Amino acid sequence: MSQSVRVLVTGAGGQLGRELLHHAPATVEVVACSRQDLDIADHRAVMDRVQGESPDWIINAAAYTAVDRAESEPDLAWTINAEAPGWLAEAAGKVGARLIQVSTDYVFSGEDPRHHAVGDPPSPINVYGRTKLEGERRVLAVLEDGVIVRTAWVYSRYGYNFVKTMLRLMAERDELRVVVDQLGTPTWARGLAQTLWSLVTDSGSPPARGIYHWTDAGVASWYDFAVAIQEESLGMGLLSRRIPLIPIATSAYPTPARRPMCSLLEKSRIHRERGLVPEHWRVGLRGMLRDH
Ligand SMILES: NC(=O)c1ccc[n+]([C@@H]2O[C@H](COP(=O)([O-])OP(=O)(O)OC[C@H]3O[C@@H](n4cnc5c(N)ncnc54)[C@H](OP(=O)(O)O)[C@@H]3O)[C@@H](O)[C@H]2O)c1
Repeated sequence: MSQSVRVLVTGAGGQLGRELLHHAPATVEVVACSRQDLDIADHRAVMDRVQGESPDWIINAAAYTAVDRAESEPDLAWTINAEAPGWLAEAAGKVGARLIQVSTDYVFSGEDPRHHAVGDPPSPINVYGRTKLEGERRVLAVLEDGVIVRTAWVYSRYGYNFVKTMLRLMAERDELRVVVDQLGTPTWARGLAQTLWSLVTDSGSPPARGIYHWTDAGVASWYDFAVAIQEESLGMGLLSRRIPLIPIATSAYPTPARRPMCSLLEKSRIHRERGLVPEHWRVGLRGMLRDH
Protein backbone atom coordinates (compact mmCIF):
# COMPACT_ATOMS: atom_id res chain seq x y z
CA MET A 1 0.00 0.00 0.00
CA SER A 2 1.39 3.43 -0.93
CA GLN A 3 2.15 5.78 1.95
CA SER A 4 0.11 8.96 2.24
CA VAL A 5 1.68 12.25 1.15
CA ARG A 6 1.47 15.08 3.68
CA VAL A 7 0.61 18.37 1.96
CA LEU A 8 0.41 21.77 3.64
CA VAL A 9 -2.02 24.04 1.77
CA THR A 10 -1.79 27.77 2.44
CA GLY A 11 -4.65 30.10 1.54
CA ALA A 12 -6.99 27.19 2.31
CA GLY A 13 -9.97 29.56 2.60
CA GLY A 14 -9.62 30.97 -0.93
CA GLN A 15 -11.24 29.82 -4.19
CA LEU A 16 -8.43 27.46 -5.09
CA GLY A 17 -7.67 26.51 -1.49
CA ARG A 18 -11.21 25.31 -0.88
CA GLU A 19 -11.30 23.28 -4.10
CA LEU A 20 -7.96 21.73 -3.10
CA LEU A 21 -9.39 20.72 0.26
CA HIS A 22 -12.62 19.30 -1.18
CA HIS A 23 -10.89 17.31 -3.92
CA ALA A 24 -7.77 16.01 -2.24
CA PRO A 25 -6.94 12.46 -3.33
CA ALA A 26 -7.36 9.71 -0.75
CA THR A 27 -3.59 9.21 -0.67
CA VAL A 28 -3.04 12.79 0.52
CA GLU A 29 -3.11 13.99 4.11
CA VAL A 30 -3.90 17.70 3.94
CA VAL A 31 -2.69 20.22 6.50
CA ALA A 32 -5.11 23.05 5.72
CA CYS A 33 -3.88 26.53 6.65
CA SER A 34 -6.28 29.39 6.09
CA ARG A 35 -5.08 32.93 6.68
CA GLN A 36 -6.13 32.64 10.33
CA ASP A 37 -4.01 29.50 10.76
CA LEU A 38 -0.93 30.81 8.96
CA ASP A 39 -0.24 34.37 7.86
CA ILE A 40 2.35 33.81 5.14
CA ALA A 41 3.42 37.47 5.49
CA ASP A 42 4.87 36.52 8.90
CA HIS A 43 8.33 35.07 8.23
CA ARG A 44 8.74 33.53 11.69
CA ALA A 45 5.28 31.95 11.57
CA VAL A 46 6.04 30.41 8.17
CA MET A 47 9.30 28.90 9.37
CA ASP A 48 7.77 27.58 12.62
CA ARG A 49 4.65 26.13 11.04
CA VAL A 50 6.40 24.41 8.16
CA GLN A 51 9.09 22.99 10.43
CA GLY A 52 6.42 21.91 12.94
CA GLU A 53 4.28 20.16 10.32
CA SER A 54 7.17 18.78 8.25
CA PRO A 55 5.08 18.25 5.10
CA ASP A 56 6.20 16.39 1.97
CA TRP A 57 4.75 19.16 -0.19
CA ILE A 58 3.52 22.73 0.23
CA ILE A 59 0.93 24.20 -2.15
CA ASN A 60 0.90 27.97 -1.82
CA ALA A 61 -2.64 28.96 -2.76
CA ALA A 62 -2.43 32.13 -0.64
CA ALA A 63 -1.97 35.42 -2.43
CA TYR A 64 -2.85 39.08 -2.47
CA THR A 65 -5.33 38.85 -5.35
CA ALA A 66 -7.02 42.27 -5.31
CA VAL A 67 -5.50 43.44 -8.60
CA ASP A 68 -6.82 47.00 -8.46
CA ARG A 69 -6.23 47.52 -4.73
CA ALA A 70 -2.61 46.37 -5.18
CA GLU A 71 -1.92 49.62 -7.04
CA SER A 72 -2.47 51.54 -3.79
CA GLU A 73 -1.09 48.83 -1.44
CA PRO A 74 2.08 47.81 -3.30
CA ASP A 75 4.08 47.09 -0.12
CA LEU A 76 1.51 44.67 1.28
CA ALA A 77 1.09 42.99 -2.12
CA TRP A 78 4.90 42.69 -2.35
CA THR A 79 5.20 41.06 1.08
CA ILE A 80 2.48 38.49 0.38
CA ASN A 81 3.13 37.75 -3.30
CA ALA A 82 6.89 38.26 -3.60
CA GLU A 83 8.56 37.79 -0.21
CA ALA A 84 6.31 35.16 1.37
CA PRO A 85 6.76 32.58 -1.44
CA GLY A 86 10.51 32.96 -0.90
CA TRP A 87 10.03 32.25 2.83
CA LEU A 88 7.86 29.22 2.07
CA ALA A 89 10.60 27.99 -0.26
CA GLU A 90 13.23 28.54 2.42
CA ALA A 91 11.10 26.61 4.94
CA ALA A 92 10.42 23.85 2.40
CA GLY A 93 14.16 23.55 1.81
CA LYS A 94 14.78 23.11 5.54
CA VAL A 95 12.37 20.16 5.86
CA GLY A 96 13.03 18.66 2.41
CA ALA A 97 9.51 19.47 1.13
CA ARG A 98 8.55 20.17 -2.47
CA LEU A 99 6.70 23.43 -3.20
CA ILE A 100 4.08 24.45 -5.75
CA GLN A 101 3.72 28.21 -6.12
CA VAL A 102 0.57 29.27 -7.97
CA SER A 103 1.17 32.20 -10.29
CA THR A 104 -0.59 34.18 -12.96
CA ASP A 105 -1.01 35.14 -16.60
CA TYR A 106 -0.48 38.72 -15.37
CA VAL A 107 3.29 38.16 -15.40
CA PHE A 108 2.94 38.88 -19.14
CA SER A 109 2.20 42.26 -20.64
CA GLY A 110 -0.37 40.72 -22.98
CA GLU A 111 0.61 43.02 -25.83
CA ASP A 112 1.42 40.02 -28.01
CA PRO A 113 -1.87 38.58 -29.31
CA ARG A 114 -0.93 34.89 -29.01
CA HIS A 115 -0.63 32.11 -26.45
CA HIS A 116 2.29 32.80 -24.10
CA ALA A 117 4.77 29.93 -23.71
CA VAL A 118 6.41 29.09 -20.38
CA GLY A 119 9.73 30.41 -21.62
CA ASP A 120 8.42 33.72 -22.99
CA PRO A 121 9.94 36.75 -21.27
CA PRO A 122 7.58 38.07 -18.59
CA SER A 123 6.86 41.79 -18.55
CA PRO A 124 4.10 42.62 -16.06
CA ILE A 125 2.19 45.89 -16.44
CA ASN A 126 0.69 46.21 -12.96
CA VAL A 127 1.70 45.88 -9.31
CA TYR A 128 -0.01 42.52 -8.86
CA GLY A 129 1.82 41.04 -11.86
CA ARG A 130 5.19 42.41 -10.74
CA THR A 131 4.78 41.01 -7.22
CA LYS A 132 3.68 37.59 -8.50
CA LEU A 133 6.63 37.45 -10.90
CA GLU A 134 9.04 38.19 -8.08
CA GLY A 135 7.38 35.40 -6.04
CA GLU A 136 8.13 32.95 -8.87
CA ARG A 137 11.73 34.11 -9.04
CA ARG A 138 12.31 33.80 -5.30
CA VAL A 139 10.91 30.27 -5.22
CA LEU A 140 13.08 29.14 -8.12
CA ALA A 141 16.15 30.87 -6.64
CA VAL A 142 15.80 28.86 -3.42
CA LEU A 143 14.50 25.50 -4.67
CA GLU A 144 15.97 23.99 -7.80
CA ASP A 145 12.98 21.63 -7.95
CA GLY A 146 10.40 24.36 -7.18
CA VAL A 147 7.20 24.17 -9.22
CA ILE A 148 5.40 27.23 -10.57
CA VAL A 149 1.91 26.82 -12.03
CA ARG A 150 0.61 29.90 -13.82
CA THR A 151 -3.10 30.13 -14.35
CA ALA A 152 -5.70 32.74 -15.34
CA TRP A 153 -9.26 34.00 -14.95
CA VAL A 154 -10.05 31.65 -12.03
CA TYR A 155 -13.57 31.22 -10.71
CA SER A 156 -15.37 28.80 -8.41
CA ARG A 157 -18.48 28.63 -6.24
CA TYR A 158 -16.35 30.11 -3.44
CA GLY A 159 -15.14 33.67 -2.86
CA TYR A 160 -15.32 36.56 -5.28
CA ASN A 161 -15.08 36.07 -9.02
CA PHE A 162 -16.45 37.14 -12.38
CA VAL A 163 -19.11 34.40 -12.61
CA LYS A 164 -20.61 35.22 -9.24
CA THR A 165 -20.50 38.96 -9.94
CA MET A 166 -22.20 38.47 -13.32
CA LEU A 167 -24.95 36.28 -11.82
CA ARG A 168 -25.68 38.94 -9.24
CA LEU A 169 -25.65 41.85 -11.72
CA MET A 170 -27.70 39.94 -14.30
CA ALA A 171 -30.40 39.45 -11.68
CA GLU A 172 -30.28 43.10 -10.51
CA ARG A 173 -29.80 45.17 -13.68
CA ASP A 174 -31.66 45.72 -16.93
CA GLU A 175 -28.52 45.66 -19.10
CA LEU A 176 -24.79 45.09 -18.61
CA ARG A 177 -21.72 46.46 -20.35
CA VAL A 178 -18.83 44.00 -20.55
CA VAL A 179 -15.28 44.40 -21.88
CA VAL A 180 -14.83 42.72 -25.25
CA ASP A 181 -11.21 43.42 -26.19
CA GLN A 182 -9.36 41.50 -23.45
CA LEU A 183 -8.78 37.84 -24.28
CA GLY A 184 -8.10 35.00 -21.89
CA THR A 185 -9.33 31.60 -20.75
CA PRO A 186 -11.84 31.25 -17.93
CA THR A 187 -10.58 28.52 -15.60
CA TRP A 188 -12.61 26.56 -13.06
CA ALA A 189 -10.69 26.33 -9.79
CA ARG A 190 -11.79 22.68 -9.46
CA GLY A 191 -9.89 21.62 -12.59
CA LEU A 192 -6.87 23.64 -11.47
CA ALA A 193 -6.99 21.94 -8.05
CA GLN A 194 -7.14 18.50 -9.69
CA THR A 195 -4.15 19.42 -11.85
CA LEU A 196 -2.13 20.48 -8.81
CA TRP A 197 -3.01 17.20 -7.08
CA SER A 198 -1.81 15.32 -10.17
CA LEU A 199 1.54 17.08 -9.94
CA VAL A 200 1.81 16.05 -6.28
CA THR A 201 0.72 12.42 -6.63
CA ASP A 202 2.13 11.57 -10.08
CA SER A 203 5.04 9.29 -9.32
CA GLY A 204 6.10 9.33 -12.99
CA SER A 205 9.60 10.43 -13.72
CA PRO A 206 11.06 12.93 -13.97
CA PRO A 207 9.23 14.74 -11.13
CA ALA A 208 7.55 18.03 -11.97
CA ARG A 209 9.84 21.06 -11.66
CA GLY A 210 10.01 24.56 -13.12
CA ILE A 211 7.23 26.53 -14.78
CA TYR A 212 3.96 25.08 -16.09
CA HIS A 213 0.91 26.79 -17.54
CA TRP A 214 -2.60 25.57 -16.76
CA THR A 215 -5.95 27.03 -17.75
CA ASP A 216 -9.06 25.46 -19.18
CA ALA A 217 -9.04 25.15 -22.99
CA GLY A 218 -10.32 27.72 -25.48
CA VAL A 219 -10.34 31.49 -25.75
CA ALA A 220 -12.86 34.09 -24.64
CA SER A 221 -13.26 37.78 -24.08
CA TRP A 222 -14.94 38.87 -20.83
CA TYR A 223 -17.94 39.61 -23.04
CA ASP A 224 -18.01 36.04 -24.47
CA PHE A 225 -17.69 34.73 -20.93
CA ALA A 226 -20.63 36.88 -19.77
CA VAL A 227 -22.76 35.70 -22.70
CA ALA A 228 -22.00 32.07 -21.83
CA ILE A 229 -22.76 32.67 -18.14
CA GLN A 230 -26.14 34.11 -19.06
CA GLU A 231 -26.98 31.33 -21.56
CA GLU A 232 -25.98 28.49 -19.25
CA SER A 233 -27.65 30.07 -16.22
CA LEU A 234 -30.92 30.63 -18.07
CA GLY A 235 -30.80 27.00 -19.22
CA MET A 236 -30.32 25.80 -15.64
CA GLY A 237 -32.97 28.10 -14.19
CA LEU A 238 -30.43 30.13 -12.20
CA LEU A 239 -31.64 33.30 -13.95
CA SER A 240 -35.24 34.02 -14.86
CA ARG A 241 -34.85 36.63 -17.63
CA ARG A 242 -32.42 37.58 -20.38
CA ILE A 243 -30.94 41.08 -20.36
CA PRO A 244 -28.95 42.80 -23.11
CA LEU A 245 -25.17 42.40 -22.79
CA ILE A 246 -23.34 45.26 -24.46
CA PRO A 247 -19.73 44.83 -25.59
CA ILE A 248 -17.48 47.73 -24.62
CA ALA A 249 -13.80 48.55 -25.05
CA THR A 250 -11.35 48.42 -22.13
CA SER A 251 -10.93 52.17 -22.55
CA ALA A 252 -14.61 52.61 -21.63
CA TYR A 253 -14.11 50.79 -18.31
CA PRO A 254 -11.10 52.41 -16.63
CA THR A 255 -9.63 50.55 -13.62
CA PRO A 256 -6.74 51.46 -11.29
CA ALA A 257 -4.64 48.56 -12.62
CA ARG A 258 -3.95 48.06 -16.32
CA ARG A 259 -4.88 44.56 -17.56
CA PRO A 260 -3.10 42.51 -20.23
CA MET A 261 -5.11 42.60 -23.47
CA CYS A 262 -4.16 39.01 -24.28
CA SER A 263 -3.81 36.65 -21.31
CA LEU A 264 -3.65 33.35 -23.17
CA LEU A 265 -1.31 30.69 -21.77
CA GLU A 266 0.22 27.98 -23.94
CA LYS A 267 -0.09 24.62 -22.14
CA SER A 268 1.90 22.13 -24.20
CA ARG A 269 4.53 21.46 -21.50
CA ILE A 270 2.04 20.17 -18.93
CA HIS A 271 0.44 18.00 -21.62
CA ARG A 272 3.72 16.66 -23.00
CA GLU A 273 5.38 15.94 -19.66
CA ARG A 274 2.48 15.19 -17.31
CA GLY A 275 -0.22 14.01 -19.74
CA LEU A 276 -2.70 16.63 -18.53
CA VAL A 277 -5.19 18.08 -21.02
CA PRO A 278 -7.81 20.68 -20.03
CA GLU A 279 -11.46 20.62 -21.01
CA HIS A 280 -13.05 23.58 -22.78
CA TRP A 281 -13.81 26.47 -20.43
CA ARG A 282 -17.53 26.16 -21.14
CA VAL A 283 -17.51 22.62 -19.71
CA GLY A 284 -15.93 24.01 -16.55
CA LEU A 285 -18.49 26.81 -16.42
CA ARG A 286 -21.37 24.29 -16.57
CA GLY A 287 -19.73 22.27 -13.83
CA MET A 288 -19.38 25.28 -11.57
CA LEU A 289 -22.95 26.47 -12.19
CA ARG A 290 -24.34 23.01 -11.43
CA ASP A 291 -22.31 23.12 -8.22
CA HIS A 292 -23.52 26.61 -7.35
N1 LIG B 1 -8.41 34.55 -9.21
C1 LIG B 1 -7.84 34.63 -10.39
O1 LIG B 1 -8.46 35.01 -11.39
C2 LIG B 1 -6.41 34.21 -10.57
C3 LIG B 1 -5.82 34.35 -11.83
C4 LIG B 1 -4.49 33.96 -11.99
C5 LIG B 1 -3.78 33.45 -10.91
N2 LIG B 1 -4.37 33.36 -9.71
C6 LIG B 1 -3.59 32.84 -8.59
O2 LIG B 1 -4.22 31.67 -8.11
C7 LIG B 1 -3.95 31.54 -6.71
C8 LIG B 1 -5.25 31.30 -5.97
O3 LIG B 1 -6.07 32.44 -6.15
P1 LIG B 1 -7.60 32.44 -5.74
O4 LIG B 1 -8.37 32.78 -6.94
O5 LIG B 1 -7.93 31.20 -4.97
O6 LIG B 1 -7.59 33.71 -4.77
P2 LIG B 1 -8.45 34.04 -3.48
O7 LIG B 1 -9.79 33.41 -3.57
O8 LIG B 1 -8.31 35.51 -3.28
O9 LIG B 1 -7.65 33.27 -2.34
C9 LIG B 1 -6.44 33.74 -1.84
C10 LIG B 1 -6.40 33.36 -0.38
O10 LIG B 1 -5.16 33.82 0.17
C11 LIG B 1 -5.45 34.33 1.45
N3 LIG B 1 -4.42 35.25 1.89
C12 LIG B 1 -4.21 36.54 1.54
N4 LIG B 1 -3.18 37.05 2.23
C13 LIG B 1 -2.72 36.06 3.02
C14 LIG B 1 -1.69 35.96 3.98
N5 LIG B 1 -0.90 37.01 4.27
N6 LIG B 1 -1.49 34.78 4.60
C15 LIG B 1 -2.28 33.73 4.34
N7 LIG B 1 -3.29 33.75 3.48
C16 LIG B 1 -3.51 34.90 2.81
C17 LIG B 1 -6.78 35.02 1.30
O11 LIG B 1 -7.36 35.21 2.56
P3 LIG B 1 -8.38 36.45 2.78
O12 LIG B 1 -9.56 36.14 1.90
O13 LIG B 1 -8.65 36.40 4.22
O14 LIG B 1 -7.63 37.68 2.32
C18 LIG B 1 -7.53 34.01 0.44
O15 LIG B 1 -8.14 33.03 1.24
C19 LIG B 1 -3.19 32.81 -6.31
O16 LIG B 1 -1.82 32.53 -6.31
C20 LIG B 1 -3.51 33.78 -7.42
O17 LIG B 1 -2.48 34.74 -7.56
C21 LIG B 1 -5.68 33.71 -9.50
